[in-house]
Amino acid sequence: MKYSAYLSQLKHSFGLRQVPVWFGSSESISQEFQTIGKKLKLLRIFPNPYPFYDWIMGFYERVSNRSALHGTMLKRSQKIIDVGAGTGYLLSRLEKATNSEQEIFAVDLSQQMLDNCKGYLSKHSQLTPRIHFERADCRKLPWNDNSFDLYVSSYLFDLLPEKELRQALREMERVLLPDGYAILVTMTTELEDLPRLSQYFYRLMNELYCIGYHKGRWNPIWRFFCAGYAPHCRPIALGQYLEGLDNIAMAYTKVSRVSLFPVRIYYVRKTHP
Ligand SMILES: C[S@@+](CC[C@H](N)C(=O)[O-])C[C@H]1O[C@@H](n2cnc3c(N)ncnc32)[C@H](O)[C@@H]1O
Repeated sequence: MKYSAYLSQLKHSFGLRQVPVWFGSSESISQEFQTIGKKLKLLRIFPNPYPFYDWIMGFYERVSNRSALHGTMLKRSQKIIDVGAGTGYLLSRLEKATNSEQEIFAVDLSQQMLDNCKGYLSKHSQLTPRIHFERADCRKLPWNDNSFDLYVSSYLFDLLPEKELRQALREMERVLLPDGYAILVTMTTELEDLPRLSQYFYRLMNELYCIGYHKGRWNPIWRFFCAGYAPHCRPIALGQYLEGLDNIAMAYTKVSRVSLFPVRIYYVRKTHP
C-alpha cells in the first residue's frame, strides 16, 4: 500500500517539482557571479569572462530572451525596468526594440554585472543616456509606487529562494503602473498546455536537471567543464506565485522550446486596485 502511494506521488510530481535553491540567498548568488568572473580572469583564458558565460548559457537563454520581447507594450512604454540585467543580453535586445524617447533602467544586485552590462552595450554601440544603471535589490527597488509601465526580467525569479521570489514579485507589482505590463522569463514546471508527448519529454528533462541540481550535486561536473560555472536557476511554477498577487492578471503565456529544458515566458498586466 505504501509502495503504491509512493508510486502515485511520484507519478504526479515527476518533472514538476520545484527544488530549493542550493546557494542560499540573492547575496550569495551575486557574490558567486563575481567570483566566476575573477576565476576566469585568473585563468587568463578570456580577458572578459562574461562573453564566455554568455556563450555557455547562450544557446539556452538567448533564444528565450529574444522570443520574449514582443507586444505593443514595448513601443508604448515610457519607462522600462530590466531587473537582474546580468550580462546585458536582454537589455541589449530591449534597447533595439525601443526608441530614443523611451527610458530604460537596468538593475542588478552586483556592481560587477552592471559594469559588464555597460561594457556589452558599449561594444555594440548601444550605450546612450536613455539607459540608466542602478545597483539595487529586486526585493526592495528604490523607486516610488507606480513608476514603470514595463517591467522585464529573465532568469532571475528562478534563481531566487521561495521567500525572496514572493518579495520580488510584490515589489514588481508595487513599482508597475496600473495597466503596465511585465514580461518574465523563467525555467518552468508549468507544462499543462503542451501536447502530451512534449509534456512527457520536458518532465523527464526537468527531473534529470533537478536530480543534478539538488543541493548542488552536479556542480563539480559543471564547474570542471565550464571553468567555474554551475547552474543556479531551477524550474519553477511562476504562474502559481503570480496568481497570489492582488493586482496582477495573466495576459498571455507561452513555452519557449529552445533546448532540452523548458522555459516559459509570461506577459502579465497590473490591474487597477
Ligand atoms: C542569470 S542572470 C540574468 C541574465 C540576464 N537577464 C541576461 O539577459 O543576460 C541573473 C542576474 O540576477 C542578479 N541578481 C541576483 N539576485 C538579485 C537581486 N536580489 N536583485 C537584483 N539582481 C539580482 C545576478 O547578479 C545576475 O546578474
